[in-house]
Amino acid sequence: MDFSEVLKKRRSIRAFSDQPVDQATLDEILLDALESPSSSNTQPYKLAVATGETCKALGDELLLKYHKSNKIQKQPLPLKLISAITSDALPDSDFKPMLGKYPSIFQERRVSTGMGLYEVLGIERKDKKARDEQMARNFTFFDAPVAIFLFVHPGMQHTALLDAGILMQSLMLSATNKGLGTCAQGALGIWRSPIDKHFDIPKGYKLVCGLALGYPEDNKVNEYKPKKIDLNELLIPKK
Ligand SMILES: Cc1cc2nc3c(=O)[nH]c(=O)nc-3n(C[C@H](O)[C@H](O)[C@H](O)COP(=O)(O)O)c2cc1C
Repeated sequence: MDFSEVLKKRRSIRAFSDQPVDQATLDEILLDALESPSSSNTQPYKLAVATGETCKALGDELLLKYHKSNKIQKQPLPLKLISAITSDALPDSDFKPMLGKYPSIFQERRVSTGMGLYEVLGIERKDKKARDEQMARNFTFFDAPVAIFLFVHPGMQHTALLDAGILMQSLMLSATNKGLGTCAQGALGIWRSPIDKHFDIPKGYKLVCGLALGYPEDNKVNEYKPKKIDLNELLIPKK
């Protein structure tokens, strides 16, 4: 594929087919991503790649946490407080989640992107149950056969996050070029303990994000193309 075509073809994929990803293809994508630039070539990242039984088990465990935590949210305050002490479903993310609304324009873009997605899925804004169910699909990686968890070393401060983002984009573009699909998933940073259960994460590394990887299913949700900002919104005008 022409490179610009790869960039335009990459979209967040939220429905995967059951076609497995063979190890050779997975290795090629990972090797491509290793070509990424990083600050002083520090490469302050590590990946936990879940396939097969591990991917399935992690999906089950994360989904259970999501359902339990959703239940807690619906409880009256006193019970919520008790759950805060006793439940194993409270988020144990390494980075503080952004709670509430995003700052102005970003909140507008977030809402319109979310609404556009629900429209494609035929989910009404007020249909909380259907929205919850769609959210839940994050935790089984939209049925992708591969789930990748991205960790960074915080000793490299903000450059670690920049480098991690570049690595993610390399993974996504390489996968797209090979006919696979991906979805970056911040949602997979909410619970870290299930990943610790299956992988020996080196000390100090922090979970940033996840990535679903597999072959896209023929599904309208995968055609969703949210609006990107115009060039004049990207560029800062001269004084
Ligand atoms: C860091 C990051 C985290 C994301 N987290 C999620 C997520 O948890 N769930 C999800 O469905 N999409 C997630 N996305 C996908 C974005 O919603 C998507 O990139 C955006 O709407 C633009 O659509 P496009 O990727 O098709 O261009 C994430 C993307 C990025 C870059």
